Amino acid sequence: MKYEKNSDADSTPLGTGGLTIGILGVGEGRSTMSAALQSKKLHLKIICDRNEELCKQRCKEFDFANYTTSYEDLLNDAEIDIIAIYTPDHLHADHIKQALLHGKHVVCTKPFIDDLNRAKELLELQAQTGKKVFVGQSSRFFEPYKRQRKDFEAGEIGELITIESHYNADHRWFLEKKWALEDSFKWLYGGLSHPVDFIRWYLPNIEEVMGYGMIGANGKAAGLKNEDTMHFIFKATDGRIARVSGTYTSPTQPTKRDSGMSCVLRGTQGASQADYHELRYAITDKTGEEKIVHWGDSTLKYYFRFEGQSHHAGEYQNYLEYFVDSIEQSFTAYPNMQEGIGTVALLQAMDKSLKTGAPVKIADILKQYNLESLSH
Ligand SMILES: NC(=O)c1ccc[n+]([C@@H]2O[C@H](COP(=O)([O-])OP(=O)(O)OC[C@H]3O[C@@H](n4cnc5c(N)ncnc54)[C@H](O)[C@@H]3O)[C@@H](O)[C@H]2O)c1
Repeated sequence: MKYEKNSDADSTPLGTGGLTIGILGVGEGRSTMSAALQSKKLHLKIICDRNEELCKQRCKEFDFANYTTSYEDLLNDAEIDIIAIYTPDHLHADHIKQALLHGKHVVCTKPFIDDLNRAKELLELQAQTGKKVFVGQSSRFFEPYKRQRKDFEAGEIGELITIESHYNADHRWFLEKKWALEDSFKWLYGGLSHPVDFIRWYLPNIEEVMGYGMIGANGKAAGLKNEDTMHFIFKATDGRIARVSGTYTSPTQPTKRDSGMSCVLRGTQGASQADYHELRYAITDKTGEEKIVHWGDSTLKYYFRFEGQSHHAGEYQNYLEYFVDSIEQSFTAYPNMQEGIGTVALLQAMDKSLKTGAPVKIADILKQYNLESLSH
């Protein structure tokens, strides 16, 4: 099946171009398979998952022949340029390390790593190997957010004053999963990391954060252990401020009125808002003109290729192609490892603020892990 895409076409057959990729973990990695097979910039050589039945299922779905249950096979394949990692969060650091040691470029899905103790080692390894590491922060690569960024960079809203972002979702169904009720599960990382990444994208120099959170009545009744309702305020080194909110166990507004995930930029000469599931974008530009953009069904199908809107294949295709360009044209693809680690440090600072009820400086978190070099 082919999907419409707003990019220049060339005559390269799909799935055979540019650089060779192997995918590790084909749960969410299913989207990456679809993305690579539909891209003219990539050649998907092999997929890998410990679960052989899942490998077979994915191969059947995509009419693809080459799978393995051993990561070693990807690491030792000299033809593979890029390893794309979609294993559970706690395994990312080891899987990135092995890929770098075997001379591969790396794409690692968000939230990158879940333990900052591993960050310094990975930064050093990357510097030694000279290979590129890219963090798959998918939402940046979704159509309304791409358009918002393009307009911002073109100066359509002037200089940025402040940014507000939220991600609200009625995830009461999720509370039925056993692991959702474990101590380790946090909506801060599972949900709020998306709008937090928008803040980092526009205000990279966040110095301090503070926030309040609580477990709402529905979360409490289900036995949830960590906050499902949170509001945070950020301060950047230049004094600019930003705000992020998230609620996860209660109903949301009608989508005609509101969006589950939005990013609002307020500038000196205009303002813009990108809405996620609604594929909607609005701007008051520097001339005072108001525009609202809606994308249609073909764009929706490019982004969401499977059931519902649970997988993000189009976003993945956009970021994989951007990463290939960065390798072939020798530029840095963002978020890179440094930016990814900075975002994890910010999330840890937010977590600490929830616990202490006090503002937390990001530099203090970085210092704790000998990562002062990433401080602003
Ligand atoms: N929008 C996004 O960017 C987005 C969305 C969803 C999930 N994710 C990320 O994708 C990652 C995976 O999430 P998921 O929902 O697919 O989880 P999952 O548990 O469904 O899938 C992980 C897969 O990795 C395989 N695996 C684990 N260890 C392995 C090993 N050593 N070798 C080979 N295979 C191994 C498992 O068998 C499993 O199939 C997480 O880090 C998650 O945060 C990102």
